[in-house]
Amino acid sequence: MVLLDQVVEDAKRDFEAAADSAALEDAKARYLGKSGVLTEQLKSLGALEPEARKAAGAQINQAKAAVEAALTARRQALASAALQAKLSAEAIDITLPGRGQGVGSLHPVMRTWERVEQIFRSIGFDVADGPEIENDWFNFTALNSPQNHPARSMQDTFYVEGHDEQGQALLLRTHTSPMQVRYASAHVARYAKEASMPPIKVIAPGRTYRVDSDATHSPMFNQVEGLWIADQVSFADLKGVYVDFLRTFFETDDIQVRFRPSYFPFTEPSAEIDMAFASGKLAGRWLEISGAGQVHPQVLKNMGLDPERYIGFAFGSGLERLTMLRYGVDDLRLFFENDIRFLAQFGA
Ligand code: DAH
Repeated sequence: MVLLDQVVEDAKRDFEAAADSAALEDAKARYLGKSGVLTEQLKSLGALEPEARKAAGAQINQAKAAVEAALTARRQALASAALQAKLSAEAIDITLPGRGQGVGSLHPVMRTWERVEQIFRSIGFDVADGPEIENDWFNFTALNSPQNHPARSMQDTFYVEGHDEQGQALLLRTHTSPMQVRYASAHVARYAKEASMPPIKVIAPGRTYRVDSDATHSPMFNQVEGLWIADQVSFADLKGVYVDFLRTFFETDDIQVRFRPSYFPFTEPSAEIDMAFASGKLAGRWLEISGAGQVHPQVLKNMGLDPERYIGFAFGSGLERLTMLRYGVDDLRLFFENDIRFLAQFGA
């Protein structure tokens, strides 16, 4: 008969040596399995005398209980080691800095847009908004550019298929000037039954479109239209208002402004407004920022106004141009490339 104490020692040592539960189950089979050492011992009891069988049986069962206890202990040790390994593999490193939330900011052109609104509101102008898909009447004809007028070719554009209810061709507006007629006609209708009509003082910022693309032109760009019509509003008022606007916008009086005679079908006389900084990095570089002029009598008629009674001025300025000058940006296309490295520089 094998020495039972030795068997128990061997089993304990083998269980300790088992590195994982598969190895442990193999070791268990060697002692407690169908033909394991202790199982064989129990089987051999049958050959003994009843007295001897009883004593030997008790000893074997004791040894078996010791081996089973060692097995259970090792099983638990392996299970908790496995759990520890899993926990540390899945651990979250809370010392890692977070990814953070990017802070958004207004697009530089939008900052200009809001600034322009703020300045003109402060001197009593209303702010109006209108459709980007415009019809032929408002975009051209009402502004004194009838069909086949050569001035139309100055503003080649994108036409939209189909016509509106009045049978007018539809197009992406080439300028914000159609808002002059839309706003003024609505104003006239609104005060039609009143004894007198308050002056028309409005700006209309918005997106405009043209078949143009280079460093200072983009097929989509932004303009702000201005219109002031009353009994007595002269070209001198245009100069005063516009130069004052520029000084406020750029926060400096150190600005040179020139009104160059020009041609627009909807104004007479017409001017192009150029500006340059008198000093600084961009000193002396003239950039055209606006068209302007005294509202043409025919346009006043199209608004429903009597040109003998009313007079006014209008202007249409490029918001990108104003933004380029304000921040010293030399290529207008940068505004539309959506490069975060560029845009982030204008953050709040
Ligand atoms: N609409 C013109 C353009 O886009 C700009 C312009 C010129 C607007 C003269 C005006 C104006 O209101 O009076 O080129």
